[in-house]
Amino acid sequence: MSEKRKMIIDCDPGTDDSVCILMALTHPDVELLGITTESGNLTADKTAANALRILEYMDRGDIPVAQGMMHPMLREYPKDPYSHGEDGLGNHFFPEPKLKISEKSPAQMIVDAVLENPGEVTLVCTSCLTNVAVAFMSRPEIIPLIKEIYHIGGAYGITEYAFRNATGDNPMSEWNIFVDPEAARIVYESDVKLTSIGLDIAFNPEAVNISEETLEKLRGIGNRQAKYALEIIDYIDGNNSIEEEGIFINGPIDTTAMCCFLNPEIMTDVREIHVAIDCGGPLTRGMTIWDRRDHFRWEHLPKIRTVFAVDGEKYQETFYQALGGT
Ligand code: BDR
Ligand code: CA
Repeated sequence: MSEKRKMIIDCDPGTDDSVCILMALTHPDVELLGITTESGNLTADKTAANALRILEYMDRGDIPVAQGMMHPMLREYPKDPYSHGEDGLGNHFFPEPKLKISEKSPAQMIVDAVLENPGEVTLVCTSCLTNVAVAFMSRPEIIPLIKEIYHIGGAYGITEYAFRNATGDNPMSEWNIFVDPEAARIVYESDVKLTSIGLDIAFNPEAVNISEETLEKLRGIGNRQAKYALEIIDYIDGNNSIEEEGIFINGPIDTTAMCCFLNPEIMTDVREIHVAIDCGGPLTRGMTIWDRRDHFRWEHLPKIRTVFAVDGEKYQETFYQALGGT
């Protein structure tokens, strides 16, 4: 039996998502069973095509890609205030992909993979969870059979970066939860083993900024995936950095979730907290409300695991190795 860790990436490529795909294709311990795409950074037709473009770039047409819905579960598709470039891939403008999307829906791909490999499949989710929610609604029996989920999602208020850099289109929310809060609620309330990496960590310069030393090491790898990752870092650096008041981010945010999956030692402080997802009005839609009260705490709120701190050096090392560095 294969020793590799089986995974599916649920994503919306997206600059940072595309680097995660490269990592999953490159890391020797990972067996990528499929890529499910949805409407997040761009609509699902575009995110699916971008996933295929990345597979073509890597000559990996053996990996199936499923295309999700053109909108969130219940809502209109919202406008992303954050830029991933005109093509969603940092303006690489790869040609139309020749590879075709799978005949399976994303939910079917997830259900089949989990039922074929009970207890072995991890979902690394770098998007809005529409596909996972649909899978959970249609076949809830898969929930306890999923090994675990790592999700880039939420803003908890553990660090100042949670709200200073809120990526959703209001002051309180992170983009992935903002897009489809009902889907996120279904997944976060499902009792699946879920580790949420919020903006507190994923937008924290001490955690995800790629250092000059790591950049130099990446330049030395000399393979396609490191070259592409460097170009994406360059794009993010030039287009989306927040330099005011000392905040400076060049890292592809979603790689935080991928690297935590690849090397859980990165997570130096993980805690279970009670969290509710606000599906309400425009000011707080998608807010992840953490009940941190010492008294009268709503113990009935779902419990999830949230990362409070990471080892920045281990993250850099994992980032480098996942792109082929030795
Ligand atoms: C998330 O929003 C998207 O722009 C990124 O791809 C990431 O998944 C961060 O809030
Ligand atoms: Ca993403």
